[in-house]
Order: sequence, then structure tokens, then C-alpha cells
Amino acid sequence: MGEKITLSIIKADVGGWVGHSSVHPDLLSKTEECLENAKNQGLIIDYHRGKVGDDIALIMTHRHGPDNENIHKFAWETFEAATEVAKSLGQYGAGQDLLSDAFSGNLRGMGPGYAEIEFEERTSEPVIVFLADKTEPGAWNMPLYKIFADPFNTIGLIIDPKMHQGFNFEVDDLIEHKKVVFSCPEELYNLLIFIGAPGRFVVKSVFRKDTGEVAAATSTQRLFFMAGRYVGKDDPVMVVRCQSGLPAVGEALEPFAFPHLVAGWMRGSHHGPLMPVSWCDDTPTRFDGPPRVVALGFQLKDGNLGTPRDMFADKSYDKAREIALNAADYLRRHGPFEPHRLPLEEMEYTTMPEVMEKLKDRFIKSG
Ligand code: 13P
Ligand code: 13P
Ligand code: MG
Ligand code: MG
Repeated sequence: MGEKITLSIIKADVGGWVGHSSVHPDLLSKTEECLENAKNQGLIIDYHRGKVGDDIALIMTHRHGPDNENIHKFAWETFEAATEVAKSLGQYGAGQDLLSDAFSGNLRGMGPGYAEIEFEERTSEPVIVFLADKTEPGAWNMPLYKIFADPFNTIGLIIDPKMHQGFNFEVDDLIEHKKVVFSCPEELYNLLIFIGAPGRFVVKSVFRKDTGEVAAATSTQRLFFMAGRYVGKDDPVMVVRCQSGLPAVGEALEPFAFPHLVAGWMRGSHHGPLMPVSWCDDTPTRFDGPPRVVALGFQLKDGNLGTPRDMFADKSYDKAREIALNAADYLRRHGPFEPHRLPLEEMEYTTMPEVMEKLKDRFIKSG
């Protein structure tokens, strides 16, 4: 048993209530039952059962480090148990994110998304967990850039001597399966040329330069690349540690005052605004959206999560919601046309190959 705490956020969609809009209460209570057992058995220190749209998130603290077989196995079995409930209730897409028949070693490539960080708990350890539905991991690129590299968002980069040296960004290439670290601010332009293409390059983690401590992490897999067919979006999670040499809580939340456009929404095939919402509004309904994000604030103590706060319930996010709804209206009026609809190569749920096959003999040379 080391000194360090691991915070694991592991999520999956194992069935929607109704369609892809929410999670049935029986799946949530089954999940909580499994988490309570794991705590009683000493596998985890504490937990909170999170949810956004049709995705369930296991937010857990423990001392086993990231990528731990027992933790991942527990998460897998919990999602399997919830899938059984989903099947018995005829929930939509029961077991959607469980791409493998059996667990083997860890969750990499198996469907559930996860972000895990290991750190020494500070005297006070404020942490924000972000959960998004109807979008993809690259949705965090712009907020992470703003939080850790943009002084117009994060004044701490200028006036806090502990942040003044900047941060290191680890970026994953989801197609080539390679990663690279950029030291910012010196390499801002190198960073941006990649993470400005969020369908392929995703910020995986952010580190302090002086201590090497982890400051933020995201879930990065793309189900489409793993399954080779449309199996739902990868509805990502992110965790950001705050204060005392890291961004203030308000600096970590500030980027979401602008509901930037992300890929996802209906059938994982449309651009739409990422709307910050309170937990009670986490049910994407209009055209299966628009995409949305909830934020859970924790104040860790001895590995205990305490009572989470609903950070986007605050009135100061009303304006962002209004902008998001206006943007949603504007984009919807494009119907099946790009750029509301994703470009062909990005479309994850498309009848295009089939239609093309059927019509291929009708295409004649055009000169
Ligand atoms: P169906 O083809 O089963 O309607 O699934 C489509 C879907 O749910 C994508 O949103
Ligand atoms: P999820 O990825 O949240 O299951 O949504 C799938 C979808 O196709 C919504 O239209
Ligand atoms: Mg779903
Ligand atoms: Mg979802």
C-alpha cells in the first residue's frame, strides 16, 4: 500500500432509457450496489456514482495505481451486471460499450472509457470531474488548452509564480497510436496544429513542469476505431486537479462559458455546441442532444471523495446554455448538410457505403 491516491473514472453506456437519452434508475442502483460492495471489501477507498445522458461513470479512489487489473476487472463486472438489468428491462443498446466477450487484464480497447490519475493528496485537494455525452474525447482539447495554456482564461499563468513556467501536454494520435509531449508556452503553436484536429489528436494528460505531477487527464479511446463500425460515440470523461500551483476551480470551469462546437450529437454524426448543464438537465433529448457536459466538484480528504458539488448548476452558466441553444437552432437548420453533418470520412453511422453500392451502376463517366 503506497502513500499515493489513485482517482479512477471509468465510464460506459450499457443501455439507454429512453433511446440514448438517460439511464434507468434500476441500472444506477445496481451500479451503486456493486460500488458499495467494492468499498466494503476494501478494494476501493470511496466512490461516487456519476451519470451523464446514457452513460454511467464509476468515480473511485483507491491505492492500486492506474491500469490496475483488479480495479478494471471490477468496473467491467459492474458494467456487465448493469447490462443484465438493462437487458431485463429492454433498455436501448443494452451492453453497447462492452465490445469484448470477456475481461482480459485491463480495459484498454474493450469499450469502457477511463481517465486515471495517481498523486500525493495535498492538504486540500480540490478536483473537478467532467462527464460529457454525445461527443468524443477531442471535445476536451479546447478547454484543456484554455485552462493550462491561455492567459486570457487562466490569469494564474501570469500572476501565480508556481504556474508561471507553464505546463506539459501529452497528446495522443488516435489513428497512428503514438504520443508526444509539448512543453508550453514555448511550443504552443506545435501543440495547436495537432489538437485543433480533435477527431484524431487528443490531449491525454497535462503535467506540472517543476514536479512532474499530473494536473489533468482524459479518456481517449475511439470506439469506432476499435469496433470498426458505429457503436455509439466515446462520450468522454476528464479530471482536473485545482488550486495551489494548479488552475483555480474557476479557471478550470471558465472555458465552458463558451459552448464550443464538438462532433457527436445525433447518430454520432453531427457538429453541435457542448452545453454545460446541471445534473438534473443531463438528458440529451432534442435530436438526441445537443451534446452536454456536467461537472462534479470534489474536495478529497484521506482519499474520501466527500459530497460532490454540481458545478454547472450555477446561474453564471445560464448565458452559455442560451448561446448553446441558439447555436443548436442555427445548426439544425442545415439538416443533412455539412458542416452540421460531419464530413463523410468522420461519419460514424452512415448508409453511404450501402447506398453507393446500390447505385454504383447508375454512375456514368461525366466527361
Ligand atoms: P437504430 O438503427 O437501432 O435505430 O440505431 C440508431 C441509433 O441509435 C443511433 O442513434
Ligand atoms: P451515445 O453515444 O450516447 O450512445 O449516442 C448514440 C447516438 O447515436 C445518439 O443519436
Ligand atoms: Mg447510447
Ligand atoms: Mg452516451
